[in-house]
Amino acid sequence: MRTIAIVNQKGGVGKTTTTCNLGAGLAHQGKRVLLVDLDAQAHLTFHLGIDNTETAATVYDLMTGRAAMGKVIVARSDRLHVAPSHIDLAGAEVELVSSVARERILCDTLASCADDYDLVLVDCPPSLGLMTLNALVAADEIILTLQPHVLALQGMSKLLETAQLIRERLNRRLKISGVVFCMFDGRTSLSGEVVADVESFFARAARDDPLFADVRVFDTRIRRNIKLAEAPGFGQTIFEYAPSSHGAEDYEHLTAELLGTSTAATTNETSEAVPEKRETDTAAPVTYSPAGPEADAARDLAASVPSEPGPPGQPAPSPEDPTA
Ligand SMILES: Nc1ncnc2c1ncn2[C@@H]1O[C@H](COP(=O)(O)OP(=O)(O)OP(=O)(O)O)[C@@H](O)[C@H]1O
Ligand SMILES: [Mg+2]
Repeated sequence: MRTIAIVNQKGGVGKTTTTCNLGAGLAHQGKRVLLVDLDAQAHLTFHLGIDNTETAATVYDLMTGRAAMGKVIVARSDRLHVAPSHIDLAGAEVELVSSVARERILCDTLASCADDYDLVLVDCPPSLGLMTLNALVAADEIILTLQPHVLALQGMSKLLETAQLIRERLNRRLKISGVVFCMFDGRTSLSGEVVADVESFFARAARDDPLFADVRVFDTRIRRNIKLAEAPGFGQTIFEYAPSSHGAEDYEHLTAELLGTSTAATTNETSEAVPEKRETDTAAPVTYSPAGPEADAARDLAASVPSEPGPPGQPAPSPEDPTA
């Protein structure tokens, strides 16, 4: 079972749309897929047409120990299953404040269904609270969704610092595997400039840090497409709502890229021109510094949970570690 957290603490950057439609694309490719809605807004749940007032239990019950995963899961189709969310999840963080190992709840519950799924996609809320922490402890990989504007990486240092600390202390499997651009408009030169900045940023990061060793910016760009915005209102995936739309085409390509079955000809990189980066670029370069106030906040979050000993051959964090 491969568990992927779809993350960005920024709101409205395509996390839920990607979780839903990438998940549906993977199920179309014959994979057994579980989608976990970890956001109290429950947008993924509604996007998939699930009425969470009628389900036996939700992720809220799961996270607070009131229900097992088997009771929470809804079969959206044979191969696409969903763990729906509920607004009550907004209070779970407070309820769990004194619980032991509260950052491992999702990880432990997913272990119970590891044989049932090929892939698990976790839709994270736009924050770095306990739910995102649970997602990062449970995940093998992170996929970041970004919108191609000049502030695409602003605030990213806090997320990346958190991921580094989780990798060091709680989950040594964790890596950032991919970055996907959503709501992409290839007609603007800005989009191409931001992509170039982001690519060079992650290429630099990959040289220094194992968390980024396998990171790639997906060739597939999810173009801005009204059908993607309309589909949630009908409780349908893009493949159900508008199978011949650009949105369906893009998520099909992204699915193929994720599975490693795409060729250059199948990515939309070739079908939609991305302007070259201009030498006269006046946009400020995007920088990531692991120090500073954002890093301090991330340390506070990760410091509230204990370290796990590393696997054989990997050093455990030093007890003298000032960030412990
Ligand atoms: N490629 C696209 N083209 C047009 N609209 C899109 C596209 N992707 C997402 N949207 C719309 O943009 C809005 C935000 O997308 P989405 O809900 O996926 O973001 P999010 O990162 O999950 O947001 P949040 O942080 O609030 O959970 C939604 O209304 C969605 O339908
Ligand atoms: Mg969302």
